[in-house]
Amino acid sequence: MEWWKEGVFYQIYPRSFKDSNSDGVGDLNGIKEKLDYFNWLGIDALWICPFFKSPMVDFGYDISDYDAVDPIFGDIEDFKDLLENAHKKHIRIVIDQVYNHTSDQHPWFIESKSSRNNPKSDWYIWKDPKPDGNPPTNWISLFSGEKEESAWTWDENRKQYYLHLFAKEQPDLNWQNENVRKAVYDSMRFWLDLGVDGFRFDAASHFYKNLERDLIKGPQIKKSLFESSRDNCYWDPFTARPETLIEIEKIRKFMDSYQDRASIGEISSDMGLYLYLMFTIPGRFNIAFNIDFLENLSFNASNLRNLVSTLDYFFGSRAWPSYVTGNHDNRRILSRMTDGMNVDIEYKKKISKLFATMLLTLRGTPFIYYGEEIGMEDTYIPRDKIMDPWGKSLWPKPGRDPSRTPMQWDSSKYAGFSNVEPWLPINENKSEINVKAEMEDPNSILHFYKKLIHERKTHEPLKSGTMQFLNIDDDILAYKRESDYAITVILNFSDKIKVLDKNLKGQIILSNYARSDKYGEQFEIRPFESMIIKNDHR
Ligand code: GLC
Repeated sequence: MEWWKEGVFYQIYPRSFKDSNSDGVGDLNGIKEKLDYFNWLGIDALWICPFFKSPMVDFGYDISDYDAVDPIFGDIEDFKDLLENAHKKHIRIVIDQVYNHTSDQHPWFIESKSSRNNPKSDWYIWKDPKPDGNPPTNWISLFSGEKEESAWTWDENRKQYYLHLFAKEQPDLNWQNENVRKAVYDSMRFWLDLGVDGFRFDAASHFYKNLERDLIKGPQIKKSLFESSRDNCYWDPFTARPETLIEIEKIRKFMDSYQDRASIGEISSDMGLYLYLMFTIPGRFNIAFNIDFLENLSFNASNLRNLVSTLDYFFGSRAWPSYVTGNHDNRRILSRMTDGMNVDIEYKKKISKLFATMLLTLRGTPFIYYGEEIGMEDTYIPRDKIMDPWGKSLWPKPGRDPSRTPMQWDSSKYAGFSNVEPWLPINENKSEINVKAEMEDPNSILHFYKKLIHERKTHEPLKSGTMQFLNIDDDILAYKRESDYAITVILNFSDKIKVLDKNLKGQIILSNYARSDKYGEQFEIRPFESMIIKNDHR
């Protein structure tokens, strides 16, 4: 099986992982310090969010030099060193490249906007206004808040608009231009030659645009059975253009000219699952990062079953699925699942373990977002401390900062992340929720993740087996994974004890309750229990 199918990925937001030089911001050497932690946990591959040269308007997703490390994170030698050390420890590194747009401070854009006839004048998407002076299309920036803001910004010098699907400081590259494509492939080559194990391609569904079309509201494609409430959505002319799909095939061929590199696409739009398939059928990306799953997660076994079974059926043998319960653009899973509830730490531990068990036993590649393995929660960010550009326009709704706060390594003042005040506040729960304390507690969320990863590696059915859902009870999500033998995963999403069928008999290899691996007459699952059984029979 390919490494990116069976491996466990861990996503690092480098600003918040570990600060090695006491400036309050995490860095590459900080990640290097923690490589033993990944070995201990059983992580196979890291996905590191952008650490390239950037004015940091969108904290690295606005790049001003694709091939240079931003000094805040270190330098290229630090990266080489990190890569070499990670490889020695059998950890792969996937980097996050942002080829849909650059920073407005990128020398390419500075040149492009200098006149209408410079050599790079066509490297970005420039358009004349409509006769009435309005922007060329009605597209709105994906970073808009309540107020919809145009995706076009007027440039007084060229007397033209330029396009930015995200912030105005993130102008979109013109992929139609052969020289732009050449520059992007040069950058990919630079990193692949250095030995990176793959790319996460940011905003990869948007590379090409149809500038002739406006955005329209259209019917929602029913993504999954329970999700029919939204009756319309945006049909945008900038997602999944045929030219983009053809380009992805070229990118894939290029990556296949190296050995064993993974291509992971960030694919997103209201089109949901259909879109993932389009981008991951053979010859395109290896994996589409599953934002749809992430966004539709709920604390409801039937909903989860619908979500996963639709996806698994859909992907079948056409493409390989991935699963994720948190990332740097969304709220943390534990906060979402306990929103507005007054619950204690024991309850939270159970909830974290339920979602962790699901994530690591479904048929597909799992991505763990940093801090989920200890049960980190969203951190309240007062208005004057908001950093996220999108968060600023979303206010008073929380933006993306709450799930980007520093990793909690211990209970000290700055949580072992840094010696100085970090760039974002640390969660007050650091005294209980931290790596050091959880390493010492065998019942912690952290130890549970470690065991789960271990079981996933030990039992082939959990990696490559088929997946079949079992009808036990509306509150129970249960599925059998099967290859040479069968493993059953049973997740109780209720506070009730439920009696289970004796046919499921076998050895309990993991539970969040202390229990022997054999059971007596009455076989039951306890409140919010996560259980994995190695079945006696298939
Ligand atoms: C992706 C990233 C997000 C970023 C955006 C613009 O969606 O995940 O963090 O802001 O692209 O690059």
